[in-house]
Amino acid sequence: MTVVGLGYMGLPTALLLARSEMTVYGYDIDKKKIKGLKKGTLPFEEPGLKELFTAATPHFVPIETLQSSDAFILTLPTPITTEKSCDTSFVLSAVNAVCRELKDDDLVVLESTVAPGTTTGPVQSLLEKTGKRFSLSYVSEKAIPGNTIAEMQTNHRIIGGLDETSAKRTKALYERFVTAPIHLTDCTTAEAVKLLENTYRDVNIALANELAIRLSQAGVNVWEAIRLANFHPRVHLHQPGPGVGGHCIAVDPWFLVSEKTPLIRQARLINDGMPSVVVGRIEEIFHDVHQPTIVLLGVAYKGNVDDDRESPAYTIKDLLEAQGYTVRLYDPLMKNKPLVSTQLSEVTKDADCVVLVTDHLMFKDIDPRHITNMRSKHLFDTRNILNHKAWEDAGFTVHILGK
Ligand SMILES: NC(=O)c1ccc[n+]([C@@H]2O[C@H](COP(=O)([O-])OP(=O)(O)OC[C@H]3O[C@@H](n4cnc5c(N)ncnc54)[C@H](O)[C@@H]3O)[C@@H](O)[C@H]2O)c1
Repeated sequence: MTVVGLGYMGLPTALLLARSEMTVYGYDIDKKKIKGLKKGTLPFEEPGLKELFTAATPHFVPIETLQSSDAFILTLPTPITTEKSCDTSFVLSAVNAVCRELKDDDLVVLESTVAPGTTTGPVQSLLEKTGKRFSLSYVSEKAIPGNTIAEMQTNHRIIGGLDETSAKRTKALYERFVTAPIHLTDCTTAEAVKLLENTYRDVNIALANELAIRLSQAGVNVWEAIRLANFHPRVHLHQPGPGVGGHCIAVDPWFLVSEKTPLIRQARLINDGMPSVVVGRIEEIFHDVHQPTIVLLGVAYKGNVDDDRESPAYTIKDLLEAQGYTVRLYDPLMKNKPLVSTQLSEVTKDADCVVLVTDHLMFKDIDPRHITNMRSKHLFDTRNILNHKAWEDAGFTVHILGK
């Protein structure tokens, strides 16, 4: 079998299958990646990936040219277009390449996140044009960076088949490494499930953000109000924050948006507007300060990962710089990023405010008493994770989003 697209999803999937002692060809359009893999160089870091690569090596074969195979799993990127819809060009280009190799009774599985109807629409149409008999399925991914390999095996899997044979063949493939229950459905439902998972989270984060804005005006600490409301057995409010990043929550809900989904659209707009809310609060604090310098603690879009895709930190930085602020970025997990420092004392020198953007656990270990080189001492905690008493005792004026 062959995995097409060896990125964050494709490479671990290929290696997990290869570790189950089946020959897995790994194809990627990026020839450098294939050359590296042939030499044992992994294209990105992920806990357990090296060990998995070693275990899978005898059965994992990186290839520079797509060749005939019994099954193809497609894990191509599906970025968002400027019109906020799903860009399927990478998927369809890969499907075209698969079509050139397709034989009767091959299985094709699409894993990329797509708008409902993509598998049985353009993908199926291209495959049908070959005149070959084929099975076709959609399988969604919900692995989290930092725990991808474990989650790929232990998360429930939703497999959508074009027909019963497609679903059963796909299940047999994934059963080689998935230990959790596997649920069978049709392709379009499976595509929708992936979008629903992230839309649910986006809408609920938007609700928490809206509550943070509304309740702080009423003098309520939203964090405390949410904590207490969640004692209700059927309430699970999410947490507010400086905005939503990453490739899933910040992107996938757009693939569902239409004139019939004002709530989903509004949730996206609320969450995309949170960097402006953060900036507005900073402007209130520093309205009479000449050229303030702001330090953003955390550039990753979420805690404890080194992934800065769609991170609200960059939007906050751009908005502040447009207002004439100097902005410095600090994130010890984001190594080799020219704009991001990994030295706290370097970025706090003569600064006016540290703004906690990312909830990295390591930020809780910062001892504010050691920050002695700032021009004025302000902390703005947008995630409510720091020990505010300790920061106040160290001379900081503490501001909290939603309070
Ligand atoms: N990364 C995640 O955490 C995550 C989680 C759930 C779902 N997804 C979805 O899975 C899909 C893949 O995401 P990813 O993060 O693995 O992407 P990625 O960008 O890390 O990897 C995609 C790979 O596909 C290759 N590629 C592009 N065009 C190609 C072509 N025509 N033929 C062969 N290879 C080609 C690229 O070179 C790249 O290596 C996306 O739809 C994404 O939304 C990702």
